[in-house]
Amino acid sequence: MKMKTCNELHVVILAAGQGKRMKSSLPKVLHKLGGKPLLAHVIAVARKLHPKKIHVLYGVDGEKIFKTTMPGDDLHWVLQKKPLGTGHAVLQVLPFIPKAARVLILYGDVPLIKAETLQYLLATTACDSVGILTAEFSDPNGFGRIIRTKSGQGRIKAIIEDKDATSKERAIKEINTGIMLFPGSLLKAFLPLVKRNNAQKEYYLTDAIAFAVANFYKINGVKVDEAQEVFGVNDKVQLVNLERFYQKRQALALLEQGITVIDPMRFDLRGELIVDLDVTFDVNVVLEGSIYIGANSYVGSNCFLRNVKIGKNVLIKPNCVVEDSIIEDDCIIGPFARIRPESRIKAKARIGNFVEVKKSEVGKGTKISHLTYIGDSLIGSNVNIGAGVITVNYDGNNKHKTVIEDGAFIGSDVQLIAPIKIGKDATIGAGSTIVEDAPAKKLTLARARQVTIERWKRKKK
Ligand code: UD1
Ligand code: CA
Repeated sequence: MKMKTCNELHVVILAAGQGKRMKSSLPKVLHKLGGKPLLAHVIAVARKLHPKKIHVLYGVDGEKIFKTTMPGDDLHWVLQKKPLGTGHAVLQVLPFIPKAARVLILYGDVPLIKAETLQYLLATTACDSVGILTAEFSDPNGFGRIIRTKSGQGRIKAIIEDKDATSKERAIKEINTGIMLFPGSLLKAFLPLVKRNNAQKEYYLTDAIAFAVANFYKINGVKVDEAQEVFGVNDKVQLVNLERFYQKRQALALLEQGITVIDPMRFDLRGELIVDLDVTFDVNVVLEGSIYIGANSYVGSNCFLRNVKIGKNVLIKPNCVVEDSIIEDDCIIGPFARIRPESRIKAKARIGNFVEVKKSEVGKGTKISHLTYIGDSLIGSNVNIGAGVITVNYDGNNKHKTVIEDGAFIGSDVQLIAPIKIGKDATIGAGSTIVEDAPAKKLTLARARQVTIERWKRKKK
């Protein structure tokens, strides 16, 4: 492929626009798509091209946020003090780009561009030619139009901005996506001369095309087939539309991998997912952060999972919330269970409805089936915890630990006042408030004896 023999690649990401139409104090490119800032998507794609450097143009509002949210030695942040146009933006990085380099222009608010498409543009454009990614839009309003020789059929001659176009030019449906590839030498020659004698009084990068043609550079136009790939985000309606498109794209990719996503329109992955064979996601599952799910597991409807590792043959019934935790093989969770950070549910355990587990380890085969709070606890294997049990872990100042050893049986409605230890195979009678360690193998209970008052009579109304 030609690109291999070309000189170093520099990527320039334009992200200095204000994004007023988002009506938000957050800079536009930091709004999230699939749980990740728009700009982070673009940077990730740029990195796949292994460029020599990625230059990111940011505006005055953005400096701190951009740098702290997206670190990386390969990123060169360049301030554009005033957004005077795309030509002016690229002019700001010109001193950092060698004449012999190739320069790929990307937009910080066009998040779904695929690396394969850019690789194709790089591969099909000769080192000393200009490449333009174009698209055919049924509604081309607002976009720069691609002007070709022989009324739309021939070579690309120029790009005319919407506001400067004649009504005949406005009828052209082939638009400039904004993604362009230039030889550094062309930018070095053109940008210092760029004028702003146009409708918007802006320095247009797109004027580089007519300049290139006049200076005998070849222009390679590459048309994308999937419009969404080059859609930009200007307002929140466009953002949510792209979000749905992106989520569907992810769900379809999972289906292709053999994973069952019951309704691709009701599936949200905001992070990285690794799944083994025959995993099923029912409707309205939301996955965030880093997720691993082992073979043959099932995630029921309306579950929210963030940073979790789930083993094989796990059944997560509907309406569960699991965060920063590990669930081992063959567990059954929910419905309506909440597993909070730093928990580990060992193999074959059962966490039932309205059970909250926080920062605890639940041993192999242990059952906690109903209405229970387990916090800061270490629970052994084959323990049975009755309904309504509470580990009382907080004294108002400090958190304390509960230890329940293997085979213990905790009756219903028991409070275990931590710090406390329940011995191996111990039994705790229902309704007890346990304040001291309970010995192994014995029955311990702490509750008032039941009495019946023989001569008592109910008062008359
Ligand atoms: C630009 C193109 C147009 C194309 C359209 C695609 C020009 C002159 N026009 O138009 O042909 O069809 O994109 O969406 O290039 N930006 C800066 N600094 C600036 C101005 C813009 O960093 O001074 C950034 C913006 O943040 C944005 C991108 O450049 O990411 C495009 O800017 P925008 O104002 O949206 O360009 P358009 O006028 O829509
Ligand atoms: Ca735009």
